Amino acid sequence: MSLKDAALSVREKAYAPYSNFKVGAAIRATSGQVFSGCNVENVAYPEGTCAEAGAIAAMVAAGEQQLAEVYVVASSPQPVPPCGGCRQKLAEFGKRDVKVTLASVDGTELETTIGQLLPGAFDASYMEGT
Ligand code: THU
Repeated sequence: MSLKDAALSVREKAYAPYSNFKVGAAIRATSGQVFSGCNVENVAYPEGTCAEAGAIAAMVAAGEQQLAEVYVVASSPQPVPPCGGCRQKLAEFGKRDVKVTLASVDGTELETTIGQLLPGAFDASYMEGT
């Protein structure tokens, strides 16, 4: 299954009763394995957990830690950019040149990279020598 199909499919399972905004994310690890996640909200923290975070958690739980490609889809008029927290999580597990496709269910796609989404990212190298 393509990342696009995996993201569209998992988006249907999103639990978003507060925002009514369903998001699906699919990621391919460097091993080739595909993981997916949807947003899951709750009444105390209505923003809940983002789709990207869910997909990354599934990847890490399966023993993988390196992203090769990312696809995110929502029903917005324009492809929705990941939130700040998700950008940091993507940067944690993927190199700067990893392709990220942001998409809308109508088929509009915006291609970017982890590095473009989080320029000047803080990473572990800044803690060297402390
Ligand atoms: N959301 C995601 O899952 N990913 C994004 O990239 C943007 C926002 C979710 C979080 C929340 O459930 C809903 O969309 C509205 O913010």
